[in-house]
Amino acid sequence: MQLQENISLKPYHTFNTQVTAKLFAAFSSFEQMQELLEYTTNSLLILGGGSNILFTKNFDGLVVKNELKGIELVKEDDEFYYVKAAAGEVWHQLVLYCINNHYQGIENLSLIPGCVGASPIQNIGAYGVEVKDIFYALEAYHIKEKKIVQFSLADCAFGYRESVFKGKYKNQFVILNVTFRLNKKPTYHISYGAIEAALQKMKITTLSAKAISDAVIQIRSSKLPNPAELPNAGSFFKNPIISSVQFEELKKVHPTLNGYNEHNQSKKISAAWLIEQSGWKGYRKNDVGCHSKQALVLINYGNATGKEIVDLSKAIITDVQNKFGITLQREVNII
Ligand code: FAD
Ligand code: EPU
Repeated sequence: MQLQENISLKPYHTFNTQVTAKLFAAFSSFEQMQELLEYTTNSLLILGGGSNILFTKNFDGLVVKNELKGIELVKEDDEFYYVKAAAGEVWHQLVLYCINNHYQGIENLSLIPGCVGASPIQNIGAYGVEVKDIFYALEAYHIKEKKIVQFSLADCAFGYRESVFKGKYKNQFVILNVTFRLNKKPTYHISYGAIEAALQKMKITTLSAKAISDAVIQIRSSKLPNPAELPNAGSFFKNPIISSVQFEELKKVHPTLNGYNEHNQSKKISAAWLIEQSGWKGYRKNDVGCHSKQALVLINYGNATGKEIVDLSKAIITDVQNKFGITLQREVNII
């Protein structure tokens, strides 16, 4: 473990903006983490893969990168396997490990960038499955009280791209490991989006977790930009949830608007559609832009600053608000 001063954070986050951290270190053991947290508990940022972060200025504090490793089967019963993964494991590696061992239910979450430790923070989700659906428990370190706390599913208060770790416990815990509950008997989710069409295109007739994973990887690769080529942080905004009444009013004016039942009285609508209809899809000015295949993704084409990316997001929010009366909420963590 080495504490570095004034280092560039460009390689440590997928938006690749040029910012520095006053202090930076990676830890690969619990003891190293405790030692690092002695330096400061205030101006502190816990970093995983940096795939959901946008830095708008140099970080005047300590950035600690979680590199805790290890995946193990901790128990099993008639129905489930319980798999515990350390926070610094790469998410997609965990998905592949589970698929190879026939631990099922995680396959729809293939190819989401980042680490295991961040997965409960925004309750990552894709193709009809969210982390909450396979979550069993997690262990987190309370930074100020210096103690390990166990969280159950109910404790995490998961919602759409939400959890207690983005809410009342924001910046208070380091997630150390997460235990997932995976199915022994398959219950596949293929009704979402283009999964069935992708399976057909791939000529897959026998359904399996591996086949679903391959289909999801194929769909994602066809529209989401690879951050190594076009730096980005995935969806920049959340899909808005509006009342059914507002949805019906909008639908009268915009017949192509689609909505999915969220709760009894509300619908989730596509932020990408709102942004596209507002004319931003494929937009580019200097090094900042809106992806041509997925309007929810903002791109750094080279030397964009965090401020330029935030300014673009503000312009998009204003236009969508003026056209549809809906205020988009950002999904990415702005630092
Ligand atoms: P980071 O960006 O490093 O951190 C995110 C937040 O979590 C920060 O606030 C950080 O401080 C905190 N944090 C990280 N690790 C810990 C820890 N161990 N303890 C406490 N706090 C911690 N997300 C989806 O939900 N679904 C998708 O389909 C999806 N697709 C994406 C596609 C692309 C191309 C990209 C670039 C991103 C996508 N994302 C998606 C967003 C992102 O991959 C997820 O949010 C992911 O969980 C972030 O993991 P990370 O390790 O990179 O977190
Ligand atoms: N659409 C458009 N224009 C576009 C893109 C999409 O109109 O440019 C419309 C289409 O009607 C399409 C619908 O939006 O059918 C949904 O698009 P998509 O399946 O690409 O999903 P999304 O709602 O845009 C969400 C998540 C993604 C996740 C996918 C798949 C959010 C904020 N985003 O995107 O998560 O991978 O569903 O489940 O919920 C992320 O969080 O970073 C992320 C990439």
